[in-house]
Amino acid sequence: MLTKWMHYFEIYERELTRFRARPITFLEVGIFKGGSIPMWKSYFCEGSTLVFIDIDPNCAAHSDPGTHVEIGNQADPAFLKALAQKYGPFDVVLDDGSHVCSHQIATLEGLWPHMRDQSLYMVEDCHTSYWPGFGGGYRNEASFIEFAKRKIDAMHSWYTDQDELFPFDPIAKELAGVRFYDSIVAFEKSVTVEPPMSIAAQNGKFNGSRKALQLRGRTSVFKGKDGT
Ligand SMILES: C[S@@+](CC[C@H](N)C(=O)[O-])C[C@H]1O[C@@H](n2cnc3c(N)ncnc32)[C@H](O)[C@@H]1O
Repeated sequence: MLTKWMHYFEIYERELTRFRARPITFLEVGIFKGGSIPMWKSYFCEGSTLVFIDIDPNCAAHSDPGTHVEIGNQADPAFLKALAQKYGPFDVVLDDGSHVCSHQIATLEGLWPHMRDQSLYMVEDCHTSYWPGFGGGYRNEASFIEFAKRKIDAMHSWYTDQDELFPFDPIAKELAGVRFYDSIVAFEKSVTVEPPMSIAAQNGKFNGSRKALQLRGRTSVFKGKDGT
């Protein structure tokens, strides 16, 4: 038996199609009755390493030839580290586990360093961020959605002009995108050592510059054009 929300399939197509062309390493948190195991097995390319974890030892019975089932707690850093050592680095991680906000955060923090360059980390059922019973609640700072919103700031911390209030966050070097869907958040990992570059191209000449990142007290070059 598979348990997913209907609208997730379109999101999977959008986010995961690019991972189907070559063998990848995929990890899903949450097995339950095992229904997603054959689904992902037929979705991803032959030769992929497909790993499924659950806290419930009964889930070991759902292991399918060519896939791996591991039993453990998604919020346990030692379990995640051992998992990453055994199977990582990962191309795609999908968290469909407890849906408890603190677990979702702990799993992402534990596995993010073990995500490959150009990989994708997705968390499902993020509507639990609005449910107090799961550690959520509207604008609850401890919810997963609020954690994910803060990553938007962190991703842009290259551009900070308020160093004390908003210091550079090293995750900006690895986080290329945070996409919010109804109940799913997708984090794209793309490792870069260089700050973003702006380009100016004219008459076949191309100039790259990072000057804008070094200027302080920036004002818009369009200032005053609307009368202000
Ligand atoms: C929504 S179900 C998974 C459904 C499955 N992915 C599917 O598509 O059919 C959630 C699973 O997460 C497991 N789970 C709950 N808390 C967990 C934890 N702390 N660590 C790992 N798995 C957990 C539960 O045992 C349950 O089997």
